[in-house]
Amino acid sequence: MEQAGDEELDGASTPELEGLSAAIRKEFAGGADELIPLLQFVQKEIGYLPEQSLREIARLTRVPAASVFGTATFYAQFRLQPAGKHVIRVCRGTACHVRGGARILREVEKQLGIKPGESTPDLKYALETVACIGACALAPTMVIGDDTYGQMTTKKVPDILKQRD
Ligand code: FES
Repeated sequence: MEQAGDEELDGASTPELEGLSAAIRKEFAGGADELIPLLQFVQKEIGYLPEQSLREIARLTRVPAASVFGTATFYAQFRLQPAGKHVIRVCRGTACHVRGGARILREVEKQLGIKPGESTPDLKYALETVACIGACALAPTMVIGDDTYGQMTTKKVPDILKQRD
C-alpha cells in the first residue's frame, strides 16, 4: 500500500476519520481492488461515508475520486450521511407486498416523518427498505437492528417504536 502519512489522514476535515489511518494501513494493502472493502470498513467504523473519507480512499487506492463517489452512490449499502441509531428496514419483497407491506412502510414514514434513505433529525431512527429479509412466512415484515417483526400491522408500528424509545 502506498503509505499515507499520519498527517494526511489525521488532517482530514472530519473528526470521525481521525484514528482510522492506522487501522486502514493495518487492514488494507491499498489496491484498487480493495475499493469496496475499504468503503465497507470506513462505514462500519464511523457509520457512514463522509465526503472527505471518499477523497482519502481515492488517494489511497489511486482510483479516480469520481469513480469512488460513483461506487459509493451506486450501492444501496453505502450511506453518505450519518444514519439514525436504530435502522428500521421495511420489507418490500413480493410476499410482504401482497400482504400489505406498503401500508407498513407508509405507517413508519408517518410515525417518523421520514422517507426511506433518511434519518430522523435527532438521529434516533433511520429508515430503509429491503427486497426480502428471508422471513416470507411472517410477511409483512420489518427489522430493527437484529430484531425481526413479523405479521406486521399498522397498529403494531407505534408500539414497536415506543419500545425502542
Ligand atoms: S418478501 Fe418480505 S420477508 Fe421475504
